[in-house]
Amino acid sequence: MKIGVLGAGQLGRMLAISGYPLNHQFGFSGNSTDEPSALLGHMFALEDNKDNIESLVAFADVITYESENTDVAIVKEISNNIPVYPGEKSLFTTQHRGREKALFDQLNIPCAPYQMVDSEADLKTAVEQIGLPAILKTATEGYDGKGQFLMRDESQITEAWQSMNGVESILEGFVNFKRELSLIAVRGIDNDHKYYPLVENTHHDGILRLTIAPAQAIEPDVQKTAEHYMQTLLDEMDHVGVLTIELFETEDGLVVNEMAPRVHNSGHWSIEGANTSQFENHVRAITGMPLGDTTPIHTFSAMVNIIGKNGPTEIALNMPNAHLHLYDKTERADRKLGHINITASTQAELTNSIEKLKDFLP
Ligand SMILES: Nc1ncnc2c1ncn2[C@@H]1O[C@H](COP(=O)(O)OP(=O)(O)OP(=O)(O)O)[C@@H](O)[C@H]1O
Ligand SMILES: [Mg+2]
Repeated sequence: MKIGVLGAGQLGRMLAISGYPLNHQFGFSGNSTDEPSALLGHMFALEDNKDNIESLVAFADVITYESENTDVAIVKEISNNIPVYPGEKSLFTTQHRGREKALFDQLNIPCAPYQMVDSEADLKTAVEQIGLPAILKTATEGYDGKGQFLMRDESQITEAWQSMNGVESILEGFVNFKRELSLIAVRGIDNDHKYYPLVENTHHDGILRLTIAPAQAIEPDVQKTAEHYMQTLLDEMDHVGVLTIELFETEDGLVVNEMAPRVHNSGHWSIEGANTSQFENHVRAITGMPLGDTTPIHTFSAMVNIIGKNGPTEIALNMPNAHLHLYDKTERADRKLGHINITASTQAELTNSIEKLKDFLP
């Protein structure tokens, strides 16, 4: 099939790399021809927004997107002609933190206490109700921790609200977590579901730096609970494709942070670490192919992000159990340029391998 991707970043690039062996073709929409996906398929550059979406749609049999910040109106219009997966409901819900949390509440999925904020007065009320510390976030468009303000004291109300530049925001109670986890799953057009194991994520300055898969010392009922939340969400949104939920592990169990209607940075380990990668499974799901087995191949996998600078990538090339993935991006502070996947059969091998890559970690 011909798959049209709205976007042309590293996620599109890795979708294409996984989709060609299945005999699919790819087209991308983006702002310029030097984006990470540009050499991996037909590029419909976005100088003249509407026309180029039309050309992409004319090329494609099915459309998917790379980002939850995709315009819902565009997706709605496209779906009058050809299928878009994940569908409009998944996109509409996940691109707005308030709608996302309302759905968690509706489905009895635990999340941080929250309140929508549209003015400094709203923020004052929200702080009174939720208490501090709390995090003020823009309702839409946030990524890698951008558009967030951690509030510790009431004296910060004015400063926090000003940092939102007047856009609709959400105040979330601060969750005292033991660690951060994520769950990636895929749902097919035929309603088949498959789940990857929970993985453990370490962030620095709001950016994911390290994923360990599977997360260590997870009780079977914790995996089950996370899968139950996931299944409820997949079914409620009639989701087709990969869905990711980010979770906090707390003393009182799992608390859901947010979700993404797409392949996720914390699933990159699956390229060499699982029988079927998250990318291949997303491609299979949206093209109506049977979903692939999600079982990990190795006792341990890890993913180390390459952020800002390419760094000493030859270290990874000289390790028998490491795989380098670069996205063809130029260096810039805080930019995701690539990642290194590690596989290991013992805890000691895992620890030693991560240690060898310490130049890439903060
Ligand atoms: N309510 C909260 N309590 C405690 N920590 C939080 C809370 N919300 C966010 N964080 C911390 O900030 C990080 C980024 O927050 P969040 O996932 O909401 O933002 P984001 O910009 O959408 O990030 P990304 O798109 O990279 O996942 C979280 O991974 C977590 O470390
Ligand atoms: Mg997040």
